Amino acid sequence: MSAEPQVVADLVAGSATAVCRVEEIPPGEGRAFAVAGEQVAVFRLRTGVLRAVSAVCPHRGGPIADGQTDAQVVVCPLHAHVFDLATGACRTGQPPLRTFPVAEADGWVLVGGG
Ligand code: FES
Repeated sequence: MSAEPQVVADLVAGSATAVCRVEEIPPGEGRAFAVAGEQVAVFRLRTGVLRAVSAVCPHRGGPIADGQTDAQVVVCPLHAHVFDLATGACRTGQPPLRTFPVAEADGWVLVGGG
């Protein structure tokens, strides 16, 4: 299932959160938000795709939202471990990041599954 149907399902269930306007996240960057008690890093990729993963690096708690991205991965700014933004899987041997459904609706960024 892609992220969008899941976030719509969460919206229907009342468990999706509007975290910001899309334009508040510059293309290629991420921002951290609290969603249902979880710290979630939301990225707006240069392709326009939105991705949401845990904001806390499983290595030593680095701020994932501040990491550099390309179309597929984010690099933690502390020790440069590399995580797949679609699956959360680490490509450099650490535990995965949790992923969250995310979608845009009427210019808002919605995050589900907190
Ligand atoms: S805290 Fe993220 S790579 Fe070390």
